[in-house]
Amino acid sequence: MEIAKDAYELRQHLAGLDGDTIAFVPTMGNLHEGHLSLVRRGFAMAEHVVVSIFVNPLQFSPSDDLDAYPRTLERDLQLLAAEGVTLVFTPSEEGLYPEGLQVHTKVTVPGLTNVLCGRKRVGHFDGVTTVVCKLLNLVSPDIALFGEKDLQQLLVIRKMVADLGMPVQIESVSTQRDARGLALSSRNSYLSSEALDIAPALYRNLVAVSDAVQGGARDYAGLCSAVIQRLNKLGFIGEYCEARRCSDLLPAQEEDTDVAIFCAAVLEGTRLIDNIVIEHY
Ligand code: PAF
Repeated sequence: MEIAKDAYELRQHLAGLDGDTIAFVPTMGNLHEGHLSLVRRGFAMAEHVVVSIFVNPLQFSPSDDLDAYPRTLERDLQLLAAEGVTLVFTPSEEGLYPEGLQVHTKVTVPGLTNVLCGRKRVGHFDGVTTVVCKLLNLVSPDIALFGEKDLQQLLVIRKMVADLGMPVQIESVSTQRDARGLALSSRNSYLSSEALDIAPALYRNLVAVSDAVQGGARDYAGLCSAVIQRLNKLGFIGEYCEARRCSDLLPAQEEDTDVAIFCAAVLEGTRLIDNIVIEHY
């Protein structure tokens, strides 16, 4: 497995891949099974898998603790080597943003980014699309893979790629969960064992809403506000629970058939997000 620390080294290694197909998995490190499932899907679709590890300051707001974000590079590299990853790109902040964050060109996807997570985390998605656009330009992969746990992020990136005519196929992989249904996330490592016992209630509640909708219920507002109430009783601070259309993230209407329930709630100071796409109803 090769490691490229800057864009120059990345270009050298990519040149050696000689036109073979490349699947790309951008990450912020602290890798878990969710990331590895993206790598495995990448290998099912392309000859090489390239992974980037970069904790992107541009997508953190001043209230997020960027310095506390878990950084586990040695362990991450071992996991990726065991998967047979071809190349890992580990740029520095100065490498990606040489003149600083404030003056760097930004990529903004309107509409989809000012609802759900974008309402509270102002500028977050601009940070995501800016770094993903840059990484896609640098790596120039055939396919890029993203997890469905961050469904809003996935939809935003799909729109960016479509709107800008970027020559890459965006592939999504279903959310990886632990045995109790908790979506795997780097942020789970912040939770105490007591909180880890409570956290699976987030997904259980989404499944309950999905079951109700499949059973004919359509009072999305009522179903979602009941979720927030139940989570709050368990010790979460519910941020939002909303039913939205996957096509444009507008609030779901009774007649819509591409609906997902999105939820964010804070537990022990850690913000957890999850979603469920309601299938065939
Ligand atoms: O999903 C993430 O880990 C990040 O938002 C991404 C896509 C790697 C961009 O920094």
